[in-house]
Amino acid sequence: MDDYLTFGRHHLAATHQGAFAQHLEPEPRPILDFLRMTNLKQNRLGLALIQEWARGMLGLNVEQIDKRTTEFTGFAIPHGDLGGDPRFFVNGERVTDIELHIPNHIDTAIDPEGGRHFGVRFRVKGFDVLNIKKRIEIAMASGPSWAQPDPYGSLWFGPSSDPLPAAANLTRIGGRDGAPEQYLKFGATFIYKLEYLLKQMGYEGFSSFDRILDWGCGCGRMLRFFDKSDRHRLTGIDIDGQNIAWNRENMGDIQFEQISTDPPTPFEDGRFNLIYANSVMTHLTVDDQFAWLQELARIAAPGAVIALTIHGWHSWAILGWQEMNTLLHFKENGIRVAAELNPDIADVPGNRYTDTAHTHEYIYREWGKYFEVHGIVEGFSGTQAMVILKTRT
Ligand SMILES: C[S@@+](CC[C@H](N)C(=O)[O-])C[C@H]1O[C@@H](n2cnc3c(N)ncnc32)[C@H](O)[C@@H]1O
Repeated sequence: MDDYLTFGRHHLAATHQGAFAQHLEPEPRPILDFLRMTNLKQNRLGLALIQEWARGMLGLNVEQIDKRTTEFTGFAIPHGDLGGDPRFFVNGERVTDIELHIPNHIDTAIDPEGGRHFGVRFRVKGFDVLNIKKRIEIAMASGPSWAQPDPYGSLWFGPSSDPLPAAANLTRIGGRDGAPEQYLKFGATFIYKLEYLLKQMGYEGFSSFDRILDWGCGCGRMLRFFDKSDRHRLTGIDIDGQNIAWNRENMGDIQFEQISTDPPTPFEDGRFNLIYANSVMTHLTVDDQFAWLQELARIAAPGAVIALTIHGWHSWAILGWQEMNTLLHFKENGIRVAAELNPDIADVPGNRYTDTAHTHEYIYREWGKYFEVHGIVEGFSGTQAMVILKTRT
């Protein structure tokens, strides 16, 4: 438990945000103890929770208004209470025409009376998110005027020559976010942040890894944003035969395999140097989680990097899971598995697809039995945190 993250958003926060630095450590006990005593339905507390746990988060929906106008709408949670409104940048250029403190769904959920804390809307001219030619970063800085944006809080868009999946394919990887703009935003943001993280860890980038596995690849949301020159290194696997069929038809230069809900996979021991999964551990039961950790440890090469997202602090705060019972359950067990199955892939045989969240402490304790836990970056993929693991050598 003493091997906390020494890179990533919190290191950067310390570098750039000065007094707003937030150290990454297991859940702040005093907050959980306070919650035990307080009625969370009092919205002020929900607000406090969000301000404390989801700092630096940018939750923007993107909509292409016309060929040259993109609108960003949603919420932005500054790093600290001081220093005024957050500032936004498109590839380093400050956005000046902007609406702040407008109504938004986060406020509506937590603070209907006060409201209007975090809402933001702005339009950017000059690109079409459905047809991007070069990388575009939407960044936020907050706090003192000298504070720089934290790259882990940014949103990204980037070039991809693969066709767009149909709405039916998109719904299978996350029902509610089924618009192509969001699909592209999540995919590019994940891959460019992962590349950035690997560089911070001392690797050159994806080229440092001979064989890369996207576990639970869905319809190629992440895989499509690798450079063409890296695609021969890639394998995508999923239990969803419909999306694997779509991938094979539309991304023929990447290897895809349909796998079953239960391990093993068809791969030999030690095959992959880099394994990543976006929003897969967030859907497994406790037993399935352990079975898959064991399988990932088998197919990972010595010294491999394994990067798996979980629902962390941001999810608890933003997704409205801050009800008393949920948090107490978290505190005591470290894992929450929803009582009902998630309907997104209800037709997949052997489906046990649920909604699951973990505490950091649980990850260090339980996942640490399978891998070395190198750190957890909050707010890495939407509200999900990224857990960085390495095989023991
Ligand atoms: C929320 S979706 C995310 C898909 C993809 N990672 C992305 O971000 O676009 C979760 C995916 O995990 C897949 N899945 C669920 N359990 C799995 C398992 N045990 N092994 C591999 N894939 C699994 C689902 O079929 C689905 O495609």
